[in-house]
Amino acid sequence: MTRSFYHDVLIVGSGAAGMTLALQLAGTCEVALLSKAGLKTGSTWHAQGGIAAVVDPEDSLAAHAHDTMVAGAGLCHRDAVDFTVAGGPAAIAWLISQGVEFSRDPDSHQHHLTREGGHSHRRILHAADATGRAISGALADRVSADPRIAVFEDHLIVDLTTQADAGSRHLRCNGAYALDARTGDVCLFQARVVVLATGGASKVYLYTTNPDGASGDGIAVAWRRGCRVANMEFNQFHPTCLFHPSAKSFLISEALRGEGAQLQLPDGTRFMPAFHPDAELAPRDIVARAIDHEIKRLGADCVYLDIRHKPLAFIEEHFPTLRAQCLTFGIDIARQRIPVVPAAHYTCGGIVTDTRGRTDLKNLYAIGECAFTGLHGANRLASNSLLECVVFATAAAADIAHELQAIPRPSFTKPWDASRVTSSDEDVVISHNWDEVRRFMWDYVGIVRTRKRLERAQHRIQLLQREIHEYYSNYRVSRDLLELRNLAMVAELIIRSALLRKESRGLHFTLDHPEQSTIAKDSILVPMNFANQELIVNKGD
Ligand code: FAD
Ligand code: SIN
Repeated sequence: MTRSFYHDVLIVGSGAAGMTLALQLAGTCEVALLSKAGLKTGSTWHAQGGIAAVVDPEDSLAAHAHDTMVAGAGLCHRDAVDFTVAGGPAAIAWLISQGVEFSRDPDSHQHHLTREGGHSHRRILHAADATGRAISGALADRVSADPRIAVFEDHLIVDLTTQADAGSRHLRCNGAYALDARTGDVCLFQARVVVLATGGASKVYLYTTNPDGASGDGIAVAWRRGCRVANMEFNQFHPTCLFHPSAKSFLISEALRGEGAQLQLPDGTRFMPAFHPDAELAPRDIVARAIDHEIKRLGADCVYLDIRHKPLAFIEEHFPTLRAQCLTFGIDIARQRIPVVPAAHYTCGGIVTDTRGRTDLKNLYAIGECAFTGLHGANRLASNSLLECVVFATAAAADIAHELQAIPRPSFTKPWDASRVTSSDEDVVISHNWDEVRRFMWDYVGIVRTRKRLERAQHRIQLLQREIHEYYSNYRVSRDLLELRNLAMVAELIIRSALLRKESRGLHFTLDHPEQSTIAKDSILVPMNFANQELIVNKGD
């Protein structure tokens, strides 16, 4: 029998966004927090450089907004930018109130602010080079200690459930099915409000800085239930991921470049000044493309990052995690150059939301990396993501607390039906397809694109989607199968968006249209079962 649960609010995802929301709602309503793994998972735990906010009196909100808009290459939504930047100081104060300890300058005892590409000021608060651990650890400790938050680890959302309001054709979200990965059973979670905080989709690429699990589940789940997604072609490639045969997804923080590290060719030549006046601190899309260009031009495996000009004491104080991790691969960053390559890092597009985190489907919210708020435009400014997580989770908490009482409890939802499926005897199909998607996405939908490559990728993904659908219909769901189904869905959305864009802008660069168009437009995909009928009516008016 299907196990079922009721909570007022179901939050799916325990990164910075999901845990912030859970802590802010606890006490006002019954909250359930689902995570596909442990609480301290997701990209949040792995974040290194820090969180951007205006806390220095010499800095200004206008400057932070300006830098965000410049990086975003004409596609940032001004309202989302102003809203996020203005929420920065309060977001930092809230994190500190939850026990997050940001690094301080040993002399002034003020918070130490570092700098990253595209920022005109030092405005990145950080906890040495492991800011994500500090944030994730502090929030997870609070969540675990709070009996008002019901935590369900190792539970993966499968799909959302909906019901029609009495006397209305409009659907509203009323919960979700979730796989208990420990038992293999699918449970029903009923809720008045569901919030997707499932992180990004960079695992769709063969090489990524993201942890396992960044398979775009929330984006796929929302799309299947009729929500629009936008700007999926803008997947950010981080310029510097460690290049080593035994290193899996290890990021070399941009903060190194913020502290003066130089990018060099294998022969030691510095190359970034030839590509941009800000050299190593140019926006990420430009640095990643420059590295890609140099690697291809020289037929090299990687380029190198050099921070050897800094004293050992400085490196140990600012980059202890990076030094220790690189040492395990036999690289002492105080004495040796670090071999680096670009890798998929951040999903700038996602589920379309407003500044309260509301999606097209009634009572469904989306926050954090899975959401498209309009903040990042065509290229995210470094360290704006953790900020967006906290600011939008706070806004969603206020909106949900305000709306909740008016939302009726869900009525009956059909339990999960597993009567017509059997156990798979060919899991190799899943692992093979996982690999295939990630490989052709890297080869055909990567840093430099062409129409021909995109069409090739589209053809492959259509074939794979059919195979995966058949598999999903016939066999019991497993974690790998659910992730593959979502990964393929998101790959399709990325390819479709990339084909729509007939220009090069920000993170989307195509040899067929190398110029930026004079008109800046989001690529918004509308599903066949579009949930927000009112929007269509209003648009036609
Ligand atoms: P995540 O932290 O990714 O959390 C997603 C959560 O959803 C996880 O708990 C996961 O288990 C859960 N989940 C996913 N799918 C399901 C499902 N189907 N069912 C149930 N649960 C699910 N940004 C910055 O601003 N500054 C930085 O310094 C920085 N450094 C980074 C370094 C690295 C290596 C990486 C990978 C990213 C970095 N980023 C940084 C980006 C930033 O960390 C992320 O964008 C941000 O943490 C996303 O937070 P989130 O809460 O949206 O999702
Ligand atoms: C980094 O430390 O380089 C990552 C920062 C970010 O992705 O915002």
